[in-house]
Amino acid sequence: MTEINIELSAVTEIVREAGKLMTDRHMEISQKGNQSNYVTSCDIAVEAYLTERLPKLLPGSLVIGEESTHNPSQGTLLWVIDPIDGTSNFIRDIGISAISVGLVKDGEPYLGVVYQPYRDEMFYAKTGEGAYLNGDPIHVSQRDFAHSHLCSAMSLYDKRYAPPCFRIIDRVYQEADDLRRLGSAAVELVYLACGRVELYFEIRLFPWDAAGAIPIIREAGGSVEALYQDKLPLDRPFPVIAANTPENFRRLREIVTEEIPELPF
Ligand code: IPD
Ligand code: CA
Ligand code: CA
Repeated sequence: MTEINIELSAVTEIVREAGKLMTDRHMEISQKGNQSNYVTSCDIAVEAYLTERLPKLLPGSLVIGEESTHNPSQGTLLWVIDPIDGTSNFIRDIGISAISVGLVKDGEPYLGVVYQPYRDEMFYAKTGEGAYLNGDPIHVSQRDFAHSHLCSAMSLYDKRYAPPCFRIIDRVYQEADDLRRLGSAAVELVYLACGRVELYFEIRLFPWDAAGAIPIIREAGGSVEALYQDKLPLDRPFPVIAANTPENFRRLREIVTEEIPELPF
């Protein structure tokens, strides 16, 4: 991929500032889509802030944001933004939510920033330059499948697809060490990048859930794939698998593709 002239520190600075908007506990909450899907005034404020600031770093770049713009123009540089990943955790004050920002060129995530304000943890990576957490290089763990922790979920926003998720989770759980459901895909994915967990599967992620974490996992030595897709889709949900080592990725992929032999939606 051709290099894009952008300072990662300029992006992390903007994202850190946006994190301050997540400290307001008097947010307004409304429901969107299905019964489990919420948006708060903080989601809207963070997205508006990022949408105003990020395109100024790269002339001609555009934004896809979970709460506002969903129509991508292919071929351009796109900031793919989830203002708060883990909104349900955020509403309940559980302390596991993140701002996720990816810069995508021609369907390839190039740069990613995931910020967890509760722990002041800034994860970031630019293709070819390594992955970092608060200035320190990060790497995936080398744990084998039997000693792995899986992060997963059960198609929260379309529960018709929950049964294969439960089957996959059960099969992996029988072979691996343990399971976590943290409630923020972006946090789970960057935890894989820094060696806190090893396996990840979700049947139905949106581009904004994954675009920030993908370059971070890859630069940290892990594997991540949008299953049955050539490039990262920007206009629809897709299954995602990720793992620390190539062996674990192969085994997880095997289990997932046996249970979901084709794109189910
Ligand atoms: C959700 C969270 C959740 C995952 C869902 C996502 P949101 O994002 O990441 O952990 O299971 O697939 O949509 O709605 O909190 O931004
Ligand atoms: Ca999300
Ligand atoms: Ca969100």
